[in-house]
Amino acid sequence: MLTVKNIHQYYGGSHILRDVSFEAHPGQITVLLGRNGVGKTTLLKSLMGLVPIKSGSIELDGQPIQKKTPYERARAGMGFVPQGREIFARLTVEENLRMGLAYRSGSTPIPPELYELFPVLRQMLHRRGGDLSGGQQQQLAIARALAPGPRLLILDEPTEGIQPSIIKDIGRALRRLATEGWKGQKMAIVLCEQYYDFAEELADHYLVMERGEVIARGEGKDMQAQGVRQLVAI
Ligand SMILES: Nc1ncnc2c1ncn2[C@@H]1O[C@H](COP(=O)(O)OP(=O)(O)OP(=O)(O)O)[C@@H](O)[C@H]1O
Ligand SMILES: [Mg+2]
Repeated sequence: MLTVKNIHQYYGGSHILRDVSFEAHPGQITVLLGRNGVGKTTLLKSLMGLVPIKSGSIELDGQPIQKKTPYERARAGMGFVPQGREIFARLTVEENLRMGLAYRSGSTPIPPELYELFPVLRQMLHRRGGDLSGGQQQQLAIARALAPGPRLLILDEPTEGIQPSIIKDIGRALRRLATEGWKGQKMAIVLCEQYYDFAEELADHYLVMERGEVIARGEGKDMQAQGVRQLVAI
């Protein structure tokens, strides 16, 4: 579904992404691991078109998208859950979910399946985003990205600062999306994480980044044998 080839990216004079290539497949979770500051967020933002790439290509279902705007990429089926969630604190949960549908026609309803995936959102529908716990906000951010029906879901450190019980709920929701698909379509998931146990539990494939480069990759089931925990230990 997603094919990334030889991406290079710079902030001013610093070379942030160095020749990054990987693929993400429908029905599978691809986990990107790496310590603080190695370039994970920069890579995800590059995929969404929020920062420009200097060279390399990004294809969605065989179509080059690296020249498209973030809006066009969203319309093409890419959903993004940013690091730190970035929900609208003064808007209600329902209004936040509607923001996820902003680029669809005005009559597109909020998919009721979202409340099956995250029941707490239905109970909190009229609360303000800012009044939710961190974990509830993260579930809202994921639901907002899912609302328009993406085929590729990209998440930047969804477990950051969140209590363990909700981390489990989020893990179950992501596994269910990969297995069952979303809105009648198969879904591919790209997840960037520093929390090793969560990453290992969910990964079908993994990549480890260091200083903007992919230094290890393989199948999720081999992570332990390949010593990935040590590679990302702080
Ligand atoms: N807007 C920016 N301008 C200049 N440098 C930046 C900018 N954003 C990030 N950087 C630098 O680029 C490098 C990669 O940052 P990035 O945020 O992609 O890392 P990360 O792996 O997501 O880190 P974390 O785990 O802390 O979220 C870091 O050295 C960071 O200081
Ligand atoms: Mg980051």
